[in-house]
Amino acid sequence: MAAAVDSFEFLAQEIIGVFTSIRDVLALVGVAFAAKRTLTLSGTAWQVIRVHGLARLFPERNLAKRYGPWAVVTGSTHGIGKAYAQELANCGVNIIIISLGQEDCEATAKYLEQTFGVQTQSIPVDFNEGKPVFDKIQKEIEGKEIGILGERKTLNNVGVMYDYPDYFLNVPAEKLWQLVHVNISAATMMTHMVLPQMVKRGRGAVVNVSAGGCCMPVPQMTVYSATKVYVDFFSRALNYEYGGRGITIQCLIPYYVATRMTKFSSTLSNPSLFIPTASTYARHALTTLGWSERTTGYWPHTLQSWVVRMTPVWLWLWASTRLNNALRRQAIHRQVRRKSSVRNPGSRPSSIILSDPISSAEVKLAGLF
Ligand SMILES: NC(=O)c1ccc[n+]([C@@H]2O[C@H](COP(=O)([O-])OP(=O)(O)OC[C@H]3O[C@@H](n4cnc5c(N)ncnc54)[C@H](OP(=O)(O)O)[C@@H]3O)[C@@H](O)[C@H]2O)c1
Repeated sequence: MAAAVDSFEFLAQEIIGVFTSIRDVLALVGVAFAAKRTLTLSGTAWQVIRVHGLARLFPERNLAKRYGPWAVVTGSTHGIGKAYAQELANCGVNIIIISLGQEDCEATAKYLEQTFGVQTQSIPVDFNEGKPVFDKIQKEIEGKEIGILGERKTLNNVGVMYDYPDYFLNVPAEKLWQLVHVNISAATMMTHMVLPQMVKRGRGAVVNVSAGGCCMPVPQMTVYSATKVYVDFFSRALNYEYGGRGITIQCLIPYYVATRMTKFSSTLSNPSLFIPTASTYARHALTTLGWSERTTGYWPHTLQSWVVRMTPVWLWLWASTRLNNALRRQAIHRQVRRKSSVRNPGSRPSSIILSDPISSAEVKLAGLF
């Protein structure tokens, strides 16, 4: 009997011993997890302070000296590209405008020359035409370079989106080609064209414009977001290859910016803290150059990107589908309203068409993401 009691006590002590050590191990795991979280959070907070705070307090004043006297900006006759070109010109950088439409290019060139006293060169092209476009640009750039140009800074900004969010099979094949030619080929081939001289001189910067849609799959902007993943991965790998040779390769990842690209929606064309104008966005984004290789470029968008990163993928897919359904309804109603006022100028559109088919919860969601 006594032997049985002894063995029970022994067994109980053994079990308590094991549980104590498991508790110790769990406590250690908890401490390690908390330490990792704290380190990650403080690292992120420091990055935000550095990229969006210190960078704005101590902006690079002499961009021409640091990166070179000329900047090539693609898609620079409207939106973010035009605003970024203005910011560069304001810092005394000469601009090569590469965009659609001769008149728009010339008007932008004249405006930059008269307002900021910089030199410009216009190269009107349609990136949708593929290889011949790059041969043309190469020729124009080469001719000028032999004379006066040194190192360059390139903003690969040009980009197109769907007319409004829609299912893959509803997007015309022509638009899909355009997305590939403009969003992927232009960034790749422009970089291939200007990088050799930067490498040779050991200075320069390539800024590629991706989009928040590169961080998660975006249903109904399927191909657009996929092209932006390409831009993001292209920039990150390229930075690893050439970043150490005095060249800055930066990827900008903006969320919504009120430009012509967001015109399909009245919600997204309304500037707010989270949907800045192109000039506000460009002003913030330029200050991050040299401070971050991969950034949203604008601090409220960095807050948005945190929320997106913390959202489970299933929830993100569900919410973005709901949001894009709402945006499509809004865009289609806008189109109908516009057509009706063109057909009957001066007439009041019918009440059905006037009602905005986007609920207030969806509006808030659209404004945030
Ligand atoms: N707006 C946003 O919410 C947003 C968000 C994230 C990322 N982005 C990205 O930011 C970049 C700029 O967008 P944005 O909003 O400023 O667009 P935007 O206002 O529509 O301006 C696009 C510019 O690209 C030019 N362009 C368009 N197609 C072209 C082609 N086939 N060949 C040559 N030039 C062409 C346009 O020339 P024309 O003026 O002659 O038409 C215009 O100057 C894009 O890469 C876009 O994906 C935008």
